[in-house]
Amino acid sequence: MNLKRLGNTEVFVPEIGLGTWGYKGGVEPLRAGIELGASLIDTAEGYYTEDIVGEAVMPFRDEVIIATKVSGRNLAHDSVLRSCEASLEKLRTDCIDLYQIHWPNPLYPIDETMSALEKLVDRGCVSYVGVSNFSVRQMREAQHYFPNYPIVSNQVLYNLRSRDIEKELLPYCLDNGITVMAYTPLDAGRLCRSRHGSALSQIAAETGKTKAQVALNWCVCQENVIAIPKADSVAKTVDNCGASGWRLSPEQIRRLDKYL
Ligand SMILES: NC(=O)c1ccc[n+]([C@@H]2O[C@H](COP(=O)([O-])OP(=O)(O)OC[C@H]3O[C@@H](n4cnc5c(N)ncnc54)[C@H](OP(=O)(O)O)[C@@H]3O)[C@@H](O)[C@H]2O)c1
Repeated sequence: MNLKRLGNTEVFVPEIGLGTWGYKGGVEPLRAGIELGASLIDTAEGYYTEDIVGEAVMPFRDEVIIATKVSGRNLAHDSVLRSCEASLEKLRTDCIDLYQIHWPNPLYPIDETMSALEKLVDRGCVSYVGVSNFSVRQMREAQHYFPNYPIVSNQVLYNLRSRDIEKELLPYCLDNGITVMAYTPLDAGRLCRSRHGSALSQIAAETGKTKAQVALNWCVCQENVIAIPKADSVAKTVDNCGASGWRLSPEQIRRLDKYL
C-alpha cells in the first residue's frame, strides 16, 4: 500500500482508506482492509458507524488512523465539544486522529467552531483537524480562525465522473500541503458497472486490474489525493486495496480523462 503525507505533518496515511457511510459489513471487511494496509478509516457522527469502527480497530488501535466528523448541525462551540466526547466514547479511544467538519454551516460563525476545535487539539482529544465539503474561500476562512494548527485535509466528492474540484480546490490544496480525501471515488459503485467497451473496461482488461481498481488508481494518481471507497464485503475490500502499489500510465490516464 502506497502512503502519502497527511497535510504537512509527519504522519503518513495509506492512499486507499476505508469509507463507512451506510456500512453494514461488520468488523471483518474493515479488519481485512487494515491487514492490507488500508489503515485509515473514515466515519462520522452522522453515519452511526463509529461503534463498529471502534470495535473493529480495538486490537490494532495504534496502527489505525481514525477519521471522524462533527456534523454541520453541531458546529456551535459547546456542541463541537459534546460531539467529540460522544465520538470518543463510541470509537472507544481517547484521541481522534483526524476530526473533520462534515459540512460548512453558515448558521454557526466559523470562529466559534474553530476555537472549539483548537481546544480539543490542546487537550489531546484530537490530533489533527480537517474539513469536508469546504470551498477554497471557506478553507481560508477556517484556517484564519485556527492560527495555531494547520487544517490538514479536505474531504470532497471526486471520481472519474465528478471532477469539479480540479478547477480550483485541488490546485489550492496541492499548493498549500493539504490532503484531499476523495469521497464516493467509485461513483457509489456505478463505475464498477461501467459498460463493456468503455475506456475504464478497456484499461481494466489491459492492466489485468478490476474496474474498481482502475477507477481508484486514477484518483490517487493525483499527488495529494487519497481515496476512501466503502465496501461491505471482504472480497470488495481486498479488491479496493489492490488499487494501490502500481500506477496507470500517462497515456491510460489521458484516455480515462476523456471518459465522459
Ligand atoms: N464527507 C462527505 O460528505 C461524504 C459523502 C459521501 C461519502 N463520504 C465517505 O466516502 C465513502 C465512500 O463513498 P460512498 O460510500 O458514497 O461511495 P463509493 O465508495 O464510491 O461506492 C460504494 C459502492 O461501491 C460498491 N463497491 C465498493 N467496492 C467495490 C468493488 N471493488 N467492486 C464493486 N463494487 C464495489 C459498494 O458495494 P457494497 O454496497 O457491497 O459495499 C457500494 O455500493 C463513504 O463511505 C464515506 O466514508 C463522505
